[in-house]
Amino acid sequence: MDNCSKYQNEHQEKFLNELFELLRIPSISADSTYNDDTARCAEAVKESLLKAGCDHAEVCQTAGHPIVYAEKIIDPSLPTILTYGHYDVQPPDPLGLWLSGPFEPTIRDGKIFARGACDDKGQMFMHVKALESMNETNLLQCNVKFIIEGEEEVGSPNLGPFLEANQEKLKADIVLVSDTSMISMEHPSIETGLRGLAYMEVEVTGPNRDLHSGVYGGAVANPITILSKMIASLHDENNHITIEGFYDNVTDLDQAEREALNSAPFDLDEYKKRFRDKNVWGEKGYTTLERTGVRPTLELNGIWGGYIGEGAKTVLPSKAFAKISMRLVPNQNSNEISKLFTAHFNKIAPDYVTVKVTEHHGGEAVVTPTNSVAYKAAEKAIEATFGKKPIPTRGGGSIPIIALFEKTLGLKTVLMGFGLDNDNIHSPNEKYDVVNYFKGIETIPYFHKYFAELSKS
Ligand code: BES
Ligand code: MN
Ligand code: MN
Repeated sequence: MDNCSKYQNEHQEKFLNELFELLRIPSISADSTYNDDTARCAEAVKESLLKAGCDHAEVCQTAGHPIVYAEKIIDPSLPTILTYGHYDVQPPDPLGLWLSGPFEPTIRDGKIFARGACDDKGQMFMHVKALESMNETNLLQCNVKFIIEGEEEVGSPNLGPFLEANQEKLKADIVLVSDTSMISMEHPSIETGLRGLAYMEVEVTGPNRDLHSGVYGGAVANPITILSKMIASLHDENNHITIEGFYDNVTDLDQAEREALNSAPFDLDEYKKRFRDKNVWGEKGYTTLERTGVRPTLELNGIWGGYIGEGAKTVLPSKAFAKISMRLVPNQNSNEISKLFTAHFNKIAPDYVTVKVTEHHGGEAVVTPTNSVAYKAAEKAIEATFGKKPIPTRGGGSIPIIALFEKTLGLKTVLMGFGLDNDNIHSPNEKYDVVNYFKGIETIPYFHKYFAELSKS
């Protein structure tokens, strides 16, 4: 691996500049104003994969944003690693809080600031540069396939069908993903689970039009008041979720599993300081690590209605809205939970309003094995470059396609992420530490090496 490391050390500046080119493209999947940029980003990813040594790369059109597929088959009898990542990013707003433009990547204090720096352009591109290093130094030991999609941040609506339609082409031995975080550089870790998701939108209608709040207020149901009460009732005094049947399929961890989970290095005081002291909140009877790792949650993501412009307007609005998402754990099913939510929300609506509930995207939770050849390869790879065995942890985020890799292609996943929880993903001033970027590029070839070696025995 020495030549590979040498190649990487000699090309650090190039590796940064090339990432910056990608970060300059505003590939915001949620906003159709940026469709051309998103398509341009797919082309750029494809080109980068060809330059890194793939012998085939294509941009596959879908009903939404394109999927980039690439491969390099060195010997069909060797194991194949399918690397997944995404080139789309979250919208950058609120723009005013960024210290430098979200699409003008800048290094400050050893950190790359840009939307997508960590989630997921920076992490995805580590695999492209790792491939380049292995290819240039003749150290490639596995076949490689890449799927880099442009719709992860909007729920991957077209990737599921793509997997179905391309089962033969996507044959592989393992899926490798860097789109999660680790505890810290001192405490490297591997996420061994992701939560599922059920994302809902609700609309509550009171009067058939906006009314004068003096003439009618106090005598006609205000949908914002009603919606607020309904929302407030979704958690009880212990912050348990009140939707009937919500916890039916949730299995509690046994004592040993709880102890293992809570033995991970975690500093609650430091955690509190990230936001505002006293901000820690959640389901009674569970620790912070349990609340984000293994318990399901319900969060309000947005709420609006009535007058929100400048100054004041005395209006009794006709409608109020909210976006509500639930994070799910193994055995909960996203569709079933959506149905339970819809039934519950309709049930608690008083008859002086009407409610409409719609479903956005969803996805299932996953737990990845820790006794597999692939997990051991990741463990050894991290040990080789960090000098420490990684700690298995449970992540709170979701990557809906991971469950489908298993369901559709029969493939397990290793979540070898190099982000940190303070990388501000989805927030203003997203960043990715330069050292994490290079550490990832250094570690990935070791994964390939150990996966090839351990697969043989
Ligand atoms: N990379 C994240 C998920 C993530 C972040 C997992 C940190 C573990 C640690 C991914 O891009 C993401 O943001 N997913 C969305 C779901 C999607 C359907 C919008 C999420 O978790 O909210
Ligand atoms: Mn991501
Ligand atoms: Mn994301």
